[in-house]
Amino acid sequence: MKELLARKAVEFVRDGSVVGLGSGSTAKAFIEELSRAVAEKGIRVTLVATSIDSELKALEVGLGPYLVPPWAVDSIDLAVDGADEISRDRMFIKGGGGAMVREKVVDYRASTLVIIAEAHKLVDRLPSNRPIPIEVLPAAWRLVARDVERRWGGKTELRACKCGGKLGPLISDNGNFILDWVPPGPAYPELEDELKAIPGVVDTGLFAKRRDAVILLADERGVFAL
Ligand code: A5P
Repeated sequence: MKELLARKAVEFVRDGSVVGLGSGSTAKAFIEELSRAVAEKGIRVTLVATSIDSELKALEVGLGPYLVPPWAVDSIDLAVDGADEISRDRMFIKGGGGAMVREKVVDYRASTLVIIAEAHKLVDRLPSNRPIPIEVLPAAWRLVARDVERRWGGKTELRACKCGGKLGPLISDNGNFILDWVPPGPAYPELEDELKAIPGVVDTGLFAKRRDAVILLADERGVFAL
């Protein structure tokens, strides 16, 4: 399914465009498919990655020469990214892989954003099974956690590094901590800005401002647009 989605997403890539590479396993399938299009069809691209993980994937499949840092581009034509949960009113939760800050930097600026996800990620209520990730300055993590729980309720948890090789909290690509918040009720569009306004919050995995995104979902019957 990820390959089908990746193949569909590659159809959005135009010759000479600046392409944002999302993060996660579905975005990695896109990176693989893109490397094929570049090698076989000679499509020229400039690439901006949303995580170190995606940069490594791009390097692995031969796209390293096309990678530039975000500050090296003036605009982004297309971004292709995955999502953890998608609501029917087109908001999404990202950050299961801890990459949501750079994902938002790239995805929100892309002229066209294509979200690719397996259909089970479509939920009636956001969040359903996943917390809302909140990236925080390390020194502020506990104060932010208290602010969030006091104002909205629910439960926050400091994301632990479960990858081995390091004890304690997970450190994001940006050197920050991540709080995973399970709110007591559904997310609403204004929540994105309300959370971001808390001192110490860098950004969150709640994406409520790209309702114009092309959302491609896949199940055993194939790929369809939301
Ligand atoms: C990374 O932080 C996330 O936002 C991913 O885009 C999201 O977790 C989707 O990942 P999968 O494609 O692996 O499900």
